[in-house]
Amino acid sequence: MKKLIVANWKLNPLTESEAVSLARKIDHKNVVVCPPFPFLPAVRKVLKRAALGAQDVFWEPHGAYTGEVSGLMLKSVGARYVIIGHSERRAYFGESDDAINEKIHAALASGLKVIVCVGEPRAVRRWGFMAARRFVARQLKRDLRGVKEKVIVAYEPIWAIGSGTSDKPEETVRMAMFIKKFCAKRFALRSVSVLYGGSVKPGNARGFLIRKEINGALVGGASLKASEFKKIVQAAGK
Ligand code: PGA
Repeated sequence: MKKLIVANWKLNPLTESEAVSLARKIDHKNVVVCPPFPFLPAVRKVLKRAALGAQDVFWEPHGAYTGEVSGLMLKSVGARYVIIGHSERRAYFGESDDAINEKIHAALASGLKVIVCVGEPRAVRRWGFMAARRFVARQLKRDLRGVKEKVIVAYEPIWAIGSGTSDKPEETVRMAMFIKKFCAKRFALRSVSVLYGGSVKPGNARGFLIRKEINGALVGGASLKASEFKKIVQAAGK
């Protein structure tokens, strides 16, 4: 199965022209480019091979919700994927599992493919792998309540995001196997794809991407540097 590499640009770059130029350079098959909302239409225009994704979505389709963006709006500008429940949204914007659950339902109803992010903080991981597993299970149980369509799960241990220290591929494999089994048993969601995210770089990408249990990567920092991102995409193709 082909690996999916997702570029999460977060609050970058600063201008539309930089966004377009970066998108042109990372336009490969099996890639999803997730720019900030204002750049979605311009980036869509230049992507020939990669798919377009958004970094968040609101749960209502329209109405009096100042500042929000709905799934139908994202669809109408060509987005096919949406990242939901990134740890930065949980931490800085107080997103709860209930809110994430509503967003997932709304996004699926709009016809978007959902990439839901889960992962434990360092304090939990210090207690060991089983503690991390329990934390992730609790997130999945709440985030996926009532979900019947397939979603993509991105396992992103919070301590690995932007820190330069990634998880160990063999631990990620264990977590990916657990997530797949949990989704199948609890939600009857078969063959859920699991991506790894957290300091994925050209030097460590292959270690994750050669494992059959890991279906791709969610890349933050390295997706802003075309040369680094290309190497990660190449590692996925090998
Ligand atoms: P990072 O971010 O690759 O910069 O660690 C990953 C993410 O937050 O999705």
